Amino acid sequence: MSNANRYTGLVDRYRDRLPVTATTRAISLGEGNTPLIKLENIPRIIGKDVEIYVKYEGLNPTGSFKDRGMTMAVTKAVEEGSQAIICASTGNTSAAAAAYAARAGIKAFVLIPEGKIAMGKMAQAMMYGAITMQIRGNFDDGMRLVKEVADQAPVTIVNSINPYRLQGQKTAAFEIVEALGQAPDYHALPVGNAGNITAHWMGYSEQAVDPALYASNRAVYQPETHSFSGEAAIAKRPTMLGYQAAGAAPFLRGAPVDHPETVATAIRIGNPQSWNHAHAVMKESGGWFDELQDQEILEAQRLLTMYEGVFVEPASAASVGGVIRDVKNGKIPEGSVIVCTVTGNGLKDPDTAIKQCSDAVMLTIDATMNDVKCSILSNMEK
Ligand code: F0G
Repeated sequence: MSNANRYTGLVDRYRDRLPVTATTRAISLGEGNTPLIKLENIPRIIGKDVEIYVKYEGLNPTGSFKDRGMTMAVTKAVEEGSQAIICASTGNTSAAAAAYAARAGIKAFVLIPEGKIAMGKMAQAMMYGAITMQIRGNFDDGMRLVKEVADQAPVTIVNSINPYRLQGQKTAAFEIVEALGQAPDYHALPVGNAGNITAHWMGYSEQAVDPALYASNRAVYQPETHSFSGEAAIAKRPTMLGYQAAGAAPFLRGAPVDHPETVATAIRIGNPQSWNHAHAVMKESGGWFDELQDQEILEAQRLLTMYEGVFVEPASAASVGGVIRDVKNGKIPEGSVIVCTVTGNGLKDPDTAIKQCSDAVMLTIDATMNDVKCSILSNMEK
């Protein structure tokens, strides 16, 4: 059967712009190629003339943007002969690591903070067959341990300090530029470890140089300095916006936070690994960090679900909540085109979702035509 038109994931799609060769065997689950959904109702509700798009990364194979990075990290780990990968995680990286390791037939070891990861993510690590270590500590403790143990055991780290992770994640920016025809004016992301905001900037930057220069190696992106060497002509890049949960907002405090706490467990991180990169991104793009209270994050999550039909996990809603606030207060001017990365699927964290839906219409009725009919008629006008 001809497979010519079958989408086979982002390593195949962007092979020429990723550190792989023509013969590298991609370990893929068909990640990437996620929808860029234009919000129809929220701009009207807030009464502002802006175009807001959400890049729905929750539709990746394991339900988060981590699959973009993990396909690259595991592809390269396997190519380099590794038999095992390891990560610390707030739940999404571990789900992705477990899935891609299963696909590759290698082992995955994952360290997660005990009692602080969403139920769906827990189910994923277990089902995909990872060896799961719940640590009595937080993500930052896990990250420190992973870095230490990798020197003493034959495991490849697949956290975003693995450079191939960011390479994979930069492809989201490629897809956005392809979909819109150019970069948006603003790009907003929830920030934890700050890998994803760094990866997006890398992607936009590579996209912004003349492809002919880029292809001929005359313009080479330098991830360390976020600049180009060579004769690059830079086209438009967005202003980058990073939103943190107030209880886990080291970029707002200007220093690591010892005891991060937030309902958005995915970004419950006090000591971001890509600290310098993220600051460089803000400086270069003219962007800013801001923080949201847990209540604001949950309100944005609910708004997105009830008025747009897009169900994301709490951390993901931080990007939308931050943008709504900054559009309302005029920091983002009317007429702007804005993309928010919504990083993970709402189904990941059913507990938090159900807890905040005490006002949801949930009727228990007899199994009769009359009861069903009465329920419809009495709720029509609500
Ligand atoms: N949104 C979600 C749903 C996440 O899972 C994460 C990070 C982020 C945003 C923040 O991205 O770290 O690149 O700034 N989750 C990691 C994990 C830490 O272990 O799953 P970042």
